[in-house]
Amino acid sequence: MRKIYVSITLILCLGVSVLKAQERIPEVEELLSKMTLEEKIGQLNLLTPGGGVATGSVVSEDVEAKIKAGNVGGVFGVSSPEKVRQAQEIAVKSSRLGIPLLIGSDIIHGYKTTYPIPLGLSSSWDMELIKQGAQMAAKEATADGINWNFSPMVDIARDPRWGRIAEGAGEDPYLGSQIAKAMVEGYQGEDLTLPATMMATVKHMALYGAPEAGRDYNSVDMSRLKMFNEYLPPYKAAVDAGVGSVMTSFNDIDGIPASGNKWLLTDLLRERWGFGGFVVSDYTSVNEMIAHGMGDLQAVSAMAINAGLDMDMVGEGFLTTLKKSVEEGKVSEEQITKATRRILEAKHKLGLLKDPYLYSDESRPEKDILTAENRQLARKAATRSFVLLKKHDNTLPLAKSAKIALVGPLANNKNNMLGTWAPTGNPELSVPILEGIKNVAPKANIQYAKGANISNDTSFAKKVNVFGPRVQIADESPEALLKEALDLAKNSDVIVAVVGEATEMSGEAASRTDITIPDSQKKLINELAKTGKPVVLVLMSGRPLDISEEMSLPVNILQVWHPGVEAGNAVADVLFGDYNPSGKLTNSWPRNVGQIPIHYRMKTTGRPGPESGEFQKFKSNYLDSPNSPLLPFGYGLSYTTFEYTDVKASSGSLNANGSIELSATVTNTGDYDGEEVVQLYIHDKVRSVTPPGKELKGFQKIALKKGESKKVNFKVTAEDLKFYNSQLEYVFEPGEFEFFIAGSSDADFNGSFNLKK
Ligand code: NOJ
Repeated sequence: MRKIYVSITLILCLGVSVLKAQERIPEVEELLSKMTLEEKIGQLNLLTPGGGVATGSVVSEDVEAKIKAGNVGGVFGVSSPEKVRQAQEIAVKSSRLGIPLLIGSDIIHGYKTTYPIPLGLSSSWDMELIKQGAQMAAKEATADGINWNFSPMVDIARDPRWGRIAEGAGEDPYLGSQIAKAMVEGYQGEDLTLPATMMATVKHMALYGAPEAGRDYNSVDMSRLKMFNEYLPPYKAAVDAGVGSVMTSFNDIDGIPASGNKWLLTDLLRERWGFGGFVVSDYTSVNEMIAHGMGDLQAVSAMAINAGLDMDMVGEGFLTTLKKSVEEGKVSEEQITKATRRILEAKHKLGLLKDPYLYSDESRPEKDILTAENRQLARKAATRSFVLLKKHDNTLPLAKSAKIALVGPLANNKNNMLGTWAPTGNPELSVPILEGIKNVAPKANIQYAKGANISNDTSFAKKVNVFGPRVQIADESPEALLKEALDLAKNSDVIVAVVGEATEMSGEAASRTDITIPDSQKKLINELAKTGKPVVLVLMSGRPLDISEEMSLPVNILQVWHPGVEAGNAVADVLFGDYNPSGKLTNSWPRNVGQIPIHYRMKTTGRPGPESGEFQKFKSNYLDSPNSPLLPFGYGLSYTTFEYTDVKASSGSLNANGSIELSATVTNTGDYDGEEVVQLYIHDKVRSVTPPGKELKGFQKIALKKGESKKVNFKVTAEDLKFYNSQLEYVFEPGEFEFFIAGSSDADFNGSFNLKK
């Protein structure tokens, strides 16, 4: 049995955070001393007067009267400096204590300058870019009066049936943690009282990305070991980065809904992680505990506050029942005071207690929102998010003088460029692909035809069109649409087909059991491939798709997610080679839905699947499919090629308090300058709890000119080799580690080192 080393720094850090959380702020304490029980409960109430997207069946009523009565701590769905000023004036001038409001919003991927969906942005593996995107969103949103953001969403997701996979950073805890940190730092900056920074909310705590069967809002059941090693790290990374608030999830954990789960919200989040901010529920998630089977509204509200939930979003269970629960001894006034203190502390951190109108500067929107600079960043972010999935016959990049047949239901479509959860963006401002191609290649000869509907199914279209016309079924017959596209295709040098999912085919309450491209478009793709002309599929989606069929066709495939407001320009930049694609997948793409959940960090099992991929009886494999995904985590091609040589460790061993350098030489061996995401994976060969077959432990994105080589170093310490053991202690265990450095998770180990005591 190997020895276990518990992190002393963890204990020290915990101590410091707990101390921090206990520091009292005089303005807050003074306010608290003046507050009645009702006024304290009022601060715990978050309402939406409408104007935003209602993500549940309840919308708040009589908001103004409630603010005046001191019954509201924050609102969301209100924007513009004028409206926010009005709301703050009602709170400040008409309520007894004049406490300003938190003004929340969902700014998931850009405010008015919409950048790619988060899953797309994660594929850039570019932390600086992700941070800049968050900074830009904070600048725009605060210019419009918002001081509190319901982002980042960091739920690890390994089930592409789940529509909200679009909102996160994919399947990996290490990458997810880096992204969580970058986003929190981007939104919050160094100083939350600066007018261009806003408070971030990490969500959805916890495990929301692992619902059974990929169905949104479904139950989650998971071992603590899996939670700690695989699903919790990104939430913790956000807490460590100083996130101001945490939002609970809709699901249950160990049989207790997250919004009422004391182990989660108090023992883990506050006591173990030292979180000093406040916890907000998700939209009516306190009330939903009734349907979960936890009792009536009074019981679930008491359960939530006693568990450590501070603010109740929209449901008003706190507002309407907590006083009674205090009178009946079911909730202590002290528990309510604690929650109120946390809300007031947040207002203090944002500078609102000193200046309630800090975010109501009427001159800012024009200067800060949708500027040319912001649009430029959105365009850059989009190009970096694209992943080249398949190259065929050197079709790409295209010549700027080419004769192009541009086809597909997403080729000239403004309604589907922004992606899910972009309610603050305006689809009308987005650049369709047709327009982008004309901008970037004005000399190209471009003919456009729709070719197919996104789906021919009217009842499906109705479900997807809740926020606007995302799936529009043409008056022409599918046959007529197809014929028009094929006629164009036959007279072109190259066919560019923009196909895939409409924006609301992913996102909240948009789970699918079939994750292929809809049949209407498959037909078009197959017919285009038969023409013998070079074909480029520009694929849009909010999730990994099953594209097994398309991968076997003689086509090129560029995955562009939903690229945001600059969609067309960014797609054209990449199609014509002004930017060489460098994105890498942050989810494994399955061969079929039967492989789900699928991810690269799987354990080997006691009967590992055969290396050859050939079926073997009594091994862990399928009769009808290989174990491997269609496209692995970390995968993505470039117009150039990269070669990895000289992969080595600086020494054969590493001491517990020392470090080792793992390195590789990467050479650009192709014909274009390009960027590569160099990835380090390790495998802990023997340890006290079964290890994953491989784990990402580092990555660096580098630029290499044609023919250029660079040595890439990764410094690894014992801290990097830690994991949670069966006592849930964060430890490393001495022994042998294998590693490889490559451009994808799908590579063989080619080095090893020993970790000594
Ligand atoms: C429900 C969603 O789950 C959450 O992510 C969002 O922040 C809230 N609605 C508020 O819109």
